[in-house]
Amino acid sequence: MSDDLETLREQTVQALAAATDMREWDAVRVGTLGKSGRLTALLKELGRMTPDARRQRGGALNRLRDELSRLIEARGQELETAALNARLAAERVDVTLPCAPQAEGLLHPITRTIEEMTAIFGAMGFQLAEGPDIESDWHNFSALNTPAHHPARTDQDTFYLPAVAEGQPERVLRTQTSGVQIRTMLGKEPPIRIIAPGRTYRADHDATHSPMFHQCEGLVIEKGITLGHLKGCLSDFLRAFFQMPDLPVRFRASYFPFTEPSMEIDIGWSRKTGQIGTGGDWLEVLGAGMVHPRVLANCGLDAREWQGFAFGMGIERLTMLRHGIPDLRSFYESDVRWLRHYGTSPLSPALLHEGL
Ligand code: PHE
Repeated sequence: MSDDLETLREQTVQALAAATDMREWDAVRVGTLGKSGRLTALLKELGRMTPDARRQRGGALNRLRDELSRLIEARGQELETAALNARLAAERVDVTLPCAPQAEGLLHPITRTIEEMTAIFGAMGFQLAEGPDIESDWHNFSALNTPAHHPARTDQDTFYLPAVAEGQPERVLRTQTSGVQIRTMLGKEPPIRIIAPGRTYRADHDATHSPMFHQCEGLVIEKGITLGHLKGCLSDFLRAFFQMPDLPVRFRASYFPFTEPSMEIDIGWSRKTGQIGTGGDWLEVLGAGMVHPRVLANCGLDAREWQGFAFGMGIERLTMLRHGIPDLRSFYESDVRWLRHYGTSPLSPALLHEGL
């Protein structure tokens, strides 16, 4: 190899060794093999040579070009690997470090019960419905066959609100979720299967009554619905909710203005021990009945064509029974210790019926 080629080779090898990153390496590559690189310039000179000289010089140049290409390529890979290794070392995450503790919120027992009710009734084809907390007197009472001066109104210690303006409807803080029945029947054609959990209000306050509490309403309107459907549906619900397939359930005649016949539903328990499911005593847990023809008529439905049943239950009451919570007032005291005890993790294992 002639001296100038030897020098070029030496200098390129040195420059490659001196290059410490890809930018410097690229400068060497372009300076040697690029369009106006040193080796390229020498190759260009071949054209002006005599055939003999060209043959000799050409062979040497080609060999040098192959060698330098290989060296440049190899150094490039070396630098790339080194750069990657440096990055991996710098960005290393120590997965063995303990994570910073994060406080986990818990679901309030009321929320949890509503979720469970929704899951159980959801599996039976019910949809969720809603109504406003501030309800018209008509939706809360009159349309439910409880006209002004009806004695059943006095059972519910109502918070009355002034009408928004003269001539506007009288308003109340709803005393029951039953108004959602009216809203649903007016709002859509049957068949209807809804539950409506929500807040309700009565001017009443002691260990078993709170001025604000929760109810869950239910309404089914279809053709050919009978008391048998009511009994089956609510027995199934109570047995699923208390997770007791043999829970004794009793249907006892009662009175509500908006159902006929009406009934209260009791479950078996022991008055002495408070245990649900055994003991020979009965405990009332919800009200229900076949929707009164007058209520259907108030919503534009013909009772000869459509039948149905409705039910309503106190969410606090069912939650207290289910979890053995002794005092209603504790639900609203925001005592973190109580919430920690009775709250449920949103990530807790699903109950039997969830995800159906
Ligand atoms: N609204 C009734 C109450 O608050 C419960 C109920 C609902 C009864 C639906 C029958 C049908 O006591």
